[in-house]
Amino acid sequence: MAWTAVILAAGKGTRMASCKPKALQQLAGSPLIEHILKTLDDVSIDEVIIIHSPEAKTDFTEALSNRENIIYLDQKEALGTAHALKTALPHVSSDNLLVLLGDVPLLSINTINKIQEEMQKNDLVVLTGVVDDPSGYGRIQKDHNGKPMAIIEELDCDDEQRKIKEINSGIMAFNTIVARNLVEEIEPNPKKNEYYLTDAIEIAYHKGIEAITYSTSEEEVFGVNSKRDLAEAEKINRKNIANKLMDKGVTIIDPERIDIRGTLVCGQNVIIDVNTIFIGDVTLGDGVTIGPFSIISNSIIGDETNIHSHSNIEGADIGSKCNIGPFARIRPETKLEEGAKVGNFVETKKSLIGKGSKVNHLTYIGDATIGENTNIGAGTITCNYDGVNKHQTRIGDGVFIGSGVELVAPIEVENGATVGAGSTVSKHIPANKLTIERSKQKTIDGWKRPTKKEDK
Ligand code: UD1
Ligand code: CA
Repeated sequence: MAWTAVILAAGKGTRMASCKPKALQQLAGSPLIEHILKTLDDVSIDEVIIIHSPEAKTDFTEALSNRENIIYLDQKEALGTAHALKTALPHVSSDNLLVLLGDVPLLSINTINKIQEEMQKNDLVVLTGVVDDPSGYGRIQKDHNGKPMAIIEELDCDDEQRKIKEINSGIMAFNTIVARNLVEEIEPNPKKNEYYLTDAIEIAYHKGIEAITYSTSEEEVFGVNSKRDLAEAEKINRKNIANKLMDKGVTIIDPERIDIRGTLVCGQNVIIDVNTIFIGDVTLGDGVTIGPFSIISNSIIGDETNIHSHSNIEGADIGSKCNIGPFARIRPETKLEEGAKVGNFVETKKSLIGKGSKVNHLTYIGDATIGENTNIGAGTITCNYDGVNKHQTRIGDGVFIGSGVELVAPIEVENGATVGAGSTVSKHIPANKLTIERSKQKTIDGWKRPTKKEDK
């Protein structure tokens, strides 16, 4: 069966109180609609149509610029969900239609598969959820055989109907021909003057169309209408991801205090402490520990490496058995080889730190390569920028750089060299010798400390 997915993402979204379209509000670091598209990537869908408001076209194409083969269509006026679907219908080329809402982001692959399965025997499937608090959602009214008779929107419910706990998720599947016929018959809702797609159910019931409901968890059908809902969705999503990781054996000290804004892949025996954020694609090897308050984005961390608290690691390739932090800032294109150490208040950028080398305290390493088993003293700076261009620092194996050294790039420090503390060096440093650049120490006799002036 060929399938077209239509995502309804026009509409005013007034409850979100934002100038950004509702479907582009961020959940776990990506737009709500991207969560839906990601789910669609893993199911059998042949065509995706997004219905947006005319003024939001570039917002959508820019936010989804990494995606191809999406048909973007304007709904000229936000006249309701049925009107939005009607806008899409002339462009639908499949015989089956999956209607999704841009503000219902947590739908699972499994549920879409189930809906598609049900569509082999039916012409209409409505995805529902049984919820504790149905307020805001359309209620599902069924006949005594359990067939859906109608969906009644909150505003149109009488007191009895308002108590119904089975709600409309807004997600529906149709035989495309059936959808075309039903949508033609929908009249505007008298209270809101909008064409409600939910009215299709009552029409289908009277026409004897094979329609059923398929029910899933409350969390999957959660609709995001406001910033409060967005925070709630964040909470649900956080829990879902943490549960999946814990099921695979990751120790998460507090699943409520970890944020994964992208994809986190973990080896065995990984321990993640509280208040940690993972952004983009992050891979943690076996036995990695991540200390509290660390932020790691788009990086690979090798086996048995410890990231101590408050470290910020971005775009880095960290080898095995390394130690980083606490309070380290590892910037893009940093590579650490096995057993390297980067300690507190150290910043690195576009640099290689070789096997077993240590940069333990208060240092800036930028545009540099450091060989193996080299020690960089506290407060060392690679002066890589002359105000116009960036220059390279090359430090060999077994080098000892004393504390407070400034290495003015371009510069090379050969294997086994020692640079005396406090030196500002700008020329080639030969192997296996002590190089020192300091003015002579002097002591001034009879010098007095200034004293505080008396108030007059
Ligand atoms: C809708 C359903 C309700 C369901 C709930 C689930 C209708 C009439 N009501 O209510 O039964 O329980 O979703 O979350 O369908 N949209 C357009 N064009 C429009 C209007 C809306 O594209 O003219 C889009 C919106 O951007 C949104 C979606 O359709 O993504 C749903 O619209 P919204 O106004 O949020 O409907 P709800 O009141 O939540
Ligand atoms: Ca909604």
